[in-house]
Amino acid sequence: MARSFFSCPDVYFGDEAITALSQFNDKRVGIVTDDFMVTSGKTRYLINAMPQASVCIYGEVKPDPSVDILTAGAARFKAFKPDVIIALGGGSSLDAAKGIKVTLEEYFNEGPIALIAIPTTSGSGSEVTSYAIISDPQNGRKYPLISAHLVPDVAILDPNLVLSVPRAVAVDTGMDVLTHAIEAFVSTGASDFSDALAEKAIALTWRYLPQVFNDEKDITARTHMHNASCMAGMAFNAAGLGLVHGMAHAIGGMMHIPHGKINAMLLPLVIDFNSKQASPETRDRYHRCARIMGIEHAVPEQAIALMTQAIRQINRHFGIPATLSELGTDRAKIAGLRTALVNAALADGCTASNPRQATAQDVAALIDHIAG
Ligand SMILES: NC(=O)c1ccc[n+]([C@@H]2O[C@H](COP(=O)([O-])OP(=O)(O)OC[C@H]3O[C@@H](n4cnc5c(N)ncnc54)[C@H](O)[C@@H]3O)[C@@H](O)[C@H]2O)c1
Ligand SMILES: [Fe+2]
Repeated sequence: MARSFFSCPDVYFGDEAITALSQFNDKRVGIVTDDFMVTSGKTRYLINAMPQASVCIYGEVKPDPSVDILTAGAARFKAFKPDVIIALGGGSSLDAAKGIKVTLEEYFNEGPIALIAIPTTSGSGSEVTSYAIISDPQNGRKYPLISAHLVPDVAILDPNLVLSVPRAVAVDTGMDVLTHAIEAFVSTGASDFSDALAEKAIALTWRYLPQVFNDEKDITARTHMHNASCMAGMAFNAAGLGLVHGMAHAIGGMMHIPHGKINAMLLPLVIDFNSKQASPETRDRYHRCARIMGIEHAVPEQAIALMTQAIRQINRHFGIPATLSELGTDRAKIAGLRTALVNAALADGCTASNPRQATAQDVAALIDHIAG
């Protein structure tokens, strides 16, 4: 079957990127965001770039958005009838905006509505992906919706918007970028195109995330991390992800742990798991990841072991715990959810492109390990 690599959205980046909004000056613009973006003046920053636009704001997105947020957001915009929806915020606001746009188009017969994504964390890559991760809090599940309709038309990467991200959120979201890039690089769907983006995203993240941690106001490091996040998003959108994300959606949905943090915790465990009994190609790919991270060893197994050790070290340096019990999660709760977690991780769409097929027993063993 012919494979394709997408050419959408238009990506504007750098210090002046926000001026790209002037093209919407004569439009009806709905902004989907959270309360912090409104109170901290970030919505005003956007409006100043398109002063003639007619604007309506839905500012009630919460982390890990649920279907209720999609219906409430769509109801807010129903009478306003936006030509354009701007998604402003972290992955949660971006995914909520995608869901709201599709709800308006498909259930309220509006549209078509243009979608502009303006990320304010360097993490999800949602500004360039066909994914929206929607939570079902009643059942404690997170579902990746995947459709070409969810790819934004325009992405604006303005590093000024990420300077206020607190250190703890910056490292969680930054480790999400590293996980996207490594999982895309070893995925069964990897190609020359996704490799190019994944390799660069690994190199940029490994170099600049510690710099962001050392100095939150380092605009050069923030800019490179923002670009890396977008590149990693392009890579996994084309190649798919793997078992880290499959398990992270299951654990994050049931235990409400920030997405990047649980990915960071799982990443070294899953690399260990995948690289045992790995095909020569997967072993070679992990070996190349290690080299990109500056870890040189002629024996692939040794290089991979040094790489997982380096990831564990950087997690510790960033204050990210190694296990759920270190994070303070009740052991009895994990034991009670064990079977549900295994089933949710195996059913998750991201698990399908993991380079090593995992059995229920394998996933249960990994859950016991991460439980601590
Ligand atoms: N669609 C995709 O392709 C994709 C990929 C990976 C993750 N996700 C999803 O994205 C969500 C996680 O996104 P995230 O990691 O960006 O976190 P988030 O959007 O949940 O935001 C985390 C916190 O950071 C705050 N924040 C955001 N920007 C800020 C800024 N500039 N200054 C200060 N505070 C700021 C938010 O208000 C929030 O409290 C999860 O639901 C995850 O499942 C989606
Ligand atoms: Fe992610």
